[in-house]
Amino acid sequence: MASDIRVRVFRFNPEEKAEPRFDLFSVPYSKGMTILDCLIYIKEHLDSTLAFRSSCRMGICGSCGVMVNGFPHLACHTQVSELGTDRLELRPLANYDVIKDLVVDLTPLFNKHKMVKPYLISPQLTADHVREFAQTPLELERYLQFSYCVKCGLCIAACPTCATDKQFLGPQALAQVFRYNMDSRDVGSKDRIQVIDQPHGLWRCHLAGACSDVCPKGVDPALAIQLLKRSVVGSWLGLTKRNVPRLVEEQEKQAPADAPKAPPLSV
Ligand code: SF4
Ligand code: FES
Repeated sequence: MASDIRVRVFRFNPEEKAEPRFDLFSVPYSKGMTILDCLIYIKEHLDSTLAFRSSCRMGICGSCGVMVNGFPHLACHTQVSELGTDRLELRPLANYDVIKDLVVDLTPLFNKHKMVKPYLISPQLTADHVREFAQTPLELERYLQFSYCVKCGLCIAACPTCATDKQFLGPQALAQVFRYNMDSRDVGSKDRIQVIDQPHGLWRCHLAGACSDVCPKGVDPALAIQLLKRSVVGSWLGLTKRNVPRLVEEQEKQAPADAPKAPPLSV
């Protein structure tokens, strides 16, 4: 790695009424440097007007998504050395409106997330909300991976369907439908299926798989969407076939014969 890296940064300020442009910065490289470190260096030493988002600096808050050399990344979670080049081009996340420089408007992401009722729906939770609702490890395993979403929106920036259909619910919201529908404490799957079984819902996914490639938390929205398609078709046919990720099925096969089995979930 060279001692300095060249960073080309997208600039746009709606108040200036000027066309977007790119600014070029030279940033001293240091071992372990992240994209967010580059941005902070530019802001503190070269151009204090640069706008970008960040908060936790540890891949938790999901606020620092940017396009790095054409691909969506969390800036704090991506080291420059991973990219194999000392030339970086930073743009705002694709498929969102730009507010300023690298800051995009994430309102559509949060609105679509809200539309799919991303919370437990259960009469027991309202009538008796103070008691504990225990789950077996296998019941937890059915949705755990999908609960790691930090709502960074990278999957939407990578999705070719989101690029052409602004109303598409998108991989983030659809993965959360699967997460809650698979939860043994929840009875809201029919409500959520009504939201996603629409022209701009589940069936607009063409399985490009880009969402899962870029997800920094290993959520695998593409897997969730395919399993959701299966469960929705099952609901049309009135089937109550078990609908579990292959990982869980394998675990159940390997478990001792006398191990407690999770109850079957209906679609
Ligand atoms: S599914 Fe992954 S990429 Fe999409 S918003 Fe959640 S954490 Fe980010
Ligand atoms: S700053 Fe929170 S995820 Fe990057």
